[in-house]
Amino acid sequence: MEIIDLRSDTVTHPTPEMRRAMASAEVGDDQSGEDPTVNRLEALAARMVGKEAAMYVPSGVMGNLSALLTHCQRGAEVIMGDESHLFHYESGAGAALGGLPYHIIPNGRFGELDPDDVRRAIRPERNGVPPTGLVCLENTHNRRGGTVITPIQIRAVADVAHERGVPVHLDGARIFNAAAYLGLSVPELTESVDSVQFCLSKGLSAPVGSLLAGPADFIQRARKARKMLGGAMRQAGVIAAAGIVALERMVERLPEDHREARRLAERLAQLPGIRLDLDTVQTNIVAFELVDERWQPEELLKALAARGLRISSFGGRRLRIVAHHGISSEQYDRALEIFSEVLVGAPSPVPAR
Ligand SMILES: Cc1ncc(COP(=O)(O)O)c(C=O)c1O
Repeated sequence: MEIIDLRSDTVTHPTPEMRRAMASAEVGDDQSGEDPTVNRLEALAARMVGKEAAMYVPSGVMGNLSALLTHCQRGAEVIMGDESHLFHYESGAGAALGGLPYHIIPNGRFGELDPDDVRRAIRPERNGVPPTGLVCLENTHNRRGGTVITPIQIRAVADVAHERGVPVHLDGARIFNAAAYLGLSVPELTESVDSVQFCLSKGLSAPVGSLLAGPADFIQRARKARKMLGGAMRQAGVIAAAGIVALERMVERLPEDHREARRLAERLAQLPGIRLDLDTVQTNIVAFELVDERWQPEELLKALAARGLRISSFGGRRLRIVAHHGISSEQYDRALEIFSEVLVGAPSPVPAR
């Protein structure tokens, strides 16, 4: 049976061009700054996101954590959204490893933070009050359904933070998707933040890696955090080579994924038992709620998987589909057929109450 895997864009495989680049990559010891391929990737990444310097890390989590550890002193609070990836899916790493308590404020419908909430969350300088170390934003916003925040929204938060001397970090795991949706360059989305992390291993199809970018002296210090976390590598050019192909070849095709996600969402929204806010389908993620109470979400996932379609869950009754490279239009059509067969055609496994 053919498997259509729409759980995440992280399931993408390296392209043949990436595999060729990996096989022939020039390498050296990256811990001494001697890997020419890593150096090339870092310079390219910094240029593409409009920052002075960038550092290659094995994962998005390590990119975010390196940023937290570099921006903040132990004991400082990190302000972030209640639906952020940092809060939900990164093992509380900043708190666990860096002694950085998380100060949670609500995310808006599109993943934005309200500047007034940020203003209120930044602590006054007073004995006994924890200092505020950092404000974190996320773009695109995963748990909001791949939604995008605009340069105006980013600047409004950054202005509030900067007025109080607090830096801003952007978890831009899918920042190229955000830029594609808005028709802007990535630097227009990052100019008011102090650092940005983005992933090569998601919609851009590289097998491994993320970049943390920011001012040169910040990246210099972040290299110490990466070393401490065990993320300083040796002949990493072998994987960085795929990252260069990702940045040079895979960014331009992202709107294809957005079109497929939109098409899928519009048809999915018409099926019974599904509540889907089409306004939030902006990039490659489709988030929706299973409202037909005859179905338990796990049972639906199992029924879809039994027919060859894999999707994922945000927990509770919220489910997620992600469009990505390697899935053809026919496969998206088949995915919809499977949904329809299960939700309309087949009897539900749980008796109606
Ligand atoms: C918004 C966001 N940030 C960070 C990450 C972490 O990336 P990784 O899983 O490569 O560590 C992810 C992963 O899905 C993500 O969606």
